[in-house]
Amino acid sequence: MEKTKVAIIGVGTVGQGVAKLLLDHGDRTARHAGRTLWLEKAVDRDLTRPRVCDLPKGVLTDNIEEVINNPEIEVVALLIGGLEPERTIMLRLLESGKNVVTANKALLAEHGPELFDRARELGRSIAFEASVAGGIPIIANISQCLSANQIESLDGILNGTTNFILSKMHEEGVAYADALKEAQRLGYAEADPTLDVNGSDTAQKLAILAHLAFGARVYWKDIPRVGIDNIEVADVRYALEMGYRIKLLAVAQLDKDTLELHVSPTLLRRGLPLSDVSGPFNAIRVVGDAVGPVLFFGQGAGQMPTASAVVADLIDTAVGRTAITFHTLELWSNRKARVTPRDFAKADGRFYLRTNVEDHPGVLAQIASILGQHNISIASVLQPEVDKDGEIVPLIVMTHLTTEGATRKAIAEIDKLPSVRGKTVRMWVRD
Ligand code: NAP
Ligand code: HSE
Repeated sequence: MEKTKVAIIGVGTVGQGVAKLLLDHGDRTARHAGRTLWLEKAVDRDLTRPRVCDLPKGVLTDNIEEVINNPEIEVVALLIGGLEPERTIMLRLLESGKNVVTANKALLAEHGPELFDRARELGRSIAFEASVAGGIPIIANISQCLSANQIESLDGILNGTTNFILSKMHEEGVAYADALKEAQRLGYAEADPTLDVNGSDTAQKLAILAHLAFGARVYWKDIPRVGIDNIEVADVRYALEMGYRIKLLAVAQLDKDTLELHVSPTLLRRGLPLSDVSGPFNAIRVVGDAVGPVLFFGQGAGQMPTASAVVADLIDTAVGRTAITFHTLELWSNRKARVTPRDFAKADGRFYLRTNVEDHPGVLAQIASILGQHNISIASVLQPEVDKDGEIVPLIVMTHLTTEGATRKAIAEIDKLPSVRGKTVRMWVRD
């Protein structure tokens, strides 16, 4: 049987999963590719670390030149997570005639236009299914299977680490910091987990999806984003009491030729499909004008789910499917953007506001007055009872429909009140 020689760069969580699939299930990949995907080299800077797969003698190396200078290696899975030297490595791989498969969304969100232009110039391809939502085949679905549609909206839980942390907080009352440590131990988090918890990883993935689904050319840092690092177990408890679960939601909503984009912690009413997505699972609800709503669900992080997407890309690249879609879709080309970003301040919704206040007479009235001045109508108020006057208590306000801009301005004023402690926590609400 014909052989396509492949290499892996970065034999960490995902790289080991990919090696395992190639080595232990070569028959399966050969059946789908019509040829053997032969693991020729696996590069990592640490050769001593114990690994879940036994690599055949001579495969593991710490010298990347053994890949770049080997003309027989046709496809390379680039499975390391930063921007440099990753950008330079990707360019060198393309320039030495390799097609590249990657899971590195940070690299694509930051340097996509340069890398894709260079790949096109060189007649090479870049496949990136694993860069968004781990094992869920969302890239292929949006760019190919739903291509008869104008996508109207896309709402997603796109980060496994934050969803795992929030689930631990909801289901077991585990503190945020402990849940984060466990997510790191299980291999879900980025090497720098700040990117997960502050919403950056989700914004990078949303920028990629917005490009594919809406033709938006938005730099990920321009997407308004809030992470989950300020959420306390108490917020989770109040949300549950009111019939909601908190999720870190990526939102893309088309209105004519403008696109609302943001990443925000959101209270989702129990019963909505995304509210019950737990652990490292991700889910994406896409609405197309022809197909209507479609829901994608699966593990968004972790060794084998992510390896599943990488190996599918290796197969597609080896048989030539990637080259066809890569060149027809003209990703990140100089083509004019089809949509422009919408003014975020005008984005409307309901909000959860939690302000820690001294329990004094008149405090609630002051807060209600500020909200009123910004035309924000209160739907309900929750304040747990405390024993002593003056004790600090959380005051939770659920608003009626209002805007991002109005709530942002109102809480800036509320946080200046003498009886307020710290900063108001604000989350969107979906019913
Ligand atoms: P990881 O466990 O940190 O693995 C990366 C491996 O590459 C480590 O062994 C690392 O060594 C090594 N490495 C780093 N820089 C290198 C270099 N310049 N040359 C050679 N080896 C190098 O990371 P991962 O979780 O597998 O993630 C890899 C990529 O997949 C990232 O872009 C990530 O965003 C993406 N991704 C991960 C998941 C997931 O669930 N983990 C899911 C989807 C996408 P050191 O440990 O010494 O740094
Ligand atoms: N750190 C990422 C996450 C990996 O937790 O979702 C998958 O992209």
